[in-house]
Amino acid sequence: TYVVTEACIKCKYMDCVEVCPVDCFYEGDNMLVINPDECIDCGVCEPECPAEAILPDTEDGLAKWLEVNAKYAEVWPNITEKGEPPADADDFKDVENKFEKFFS
Ligand code: SF4
Ligand code: F3S
Repeated sequence: TYVVTEACIKCKYMDCVEVCPVDCFYEGDNMLVINPDECIDCGVCEPECPAEAILPDTEDGLAKWLEVNAKYAEVWPNITEKGEPPADADDFKDVENKFEKFFS
């Protein structure tokens, strides 16, 4: 599966939802997640994200993100159309430790 990681937080560009063939993105206030049970591993969303937040869960150190994606895909609503990204999205693009600071 692919997972959405920290770089999405407060950037939430949503280009990813436009290309997913199985509509498996779910929307929180500050980020999106992928439902690992629904993702078919096609990979088309990965290069679409301007924040480079989407990665295959086979990369090192992504166990935490797989958990976050699985957990919140169960409770957040499905999103299938790109909305308006936050006005200050670009200000948060290279900010570090966004999970600790802003995840809710
Ligand atoms: Fe959707 Fe494919 Fe991305 Fe999985 S890898 S979330 S199926 S676009
Ligand atoms: Fe987030 Fe990138 Fe999608 S910033 S909403 S994963 S396009």
